[in-house]
Amino acid sequence: MNILMVCLGNICRSPLAQGIMEKKIKKYNLNNTYVDSAGTADYHVGEKPDPRTIEIAGKHGIDITKQRGRQFKAHDFRKFDKIYVMDHSNLSDVSAQAENDDDLKKVDLLLNSISPGENRAVPDPYYGGKNGFENVYQLLDAACEKIVTSLKQKQ
Ligand code: 4NP
Repeated sequence: MNILMVCLGNICRSPLAQGIMEKKIKKYNLNNTYVDSAGTADYHVGEKPDPRTIEIAGKHGIDITKQRGRQFKAHDFRKFDKIYVMDHSNLSDVSAQAENDDDLKKVDLLLNSISPGENRAVPDPYYGGKNGFENVYQLLDAACEKIVTSLKQKQ
């Protein structure tokens, strides 16, 4: 199972989601599960995650300093089985690059894993204060926990 986390800049929400997932994949010993992240924009390609994201991850025992920003490309639909997006703008940007219905079916808002059908967005913390990052962490952690436990049950 290859999972891709997608946000706008790939320096705040999706790198944190990747770090959280990697930790849970290890914790639950989920073999054959891989996670990566990307941004729909190219603003931060090659950059480390935002310092505030690195800090909140570290506070929760997760090291994301080795991650580097990259842009989502249509060929990601070939490699990934599931593409979780953070908000509605990511959803339309990624969906616009789908080549067929199978591609489209891979894409969903991440928070639909904890509140199915509600289409809630993970708020963009980039322009917000520090609390924004803790709030984002809690949302991502809850969603990732749900995803890994349901994958574990299917193993
Ligand atoms: P992210 O946050 O999509 O969660 O990585 C953002 C990062 C950078 C920008 C916007 C959102 N930016 O405009 O540079």
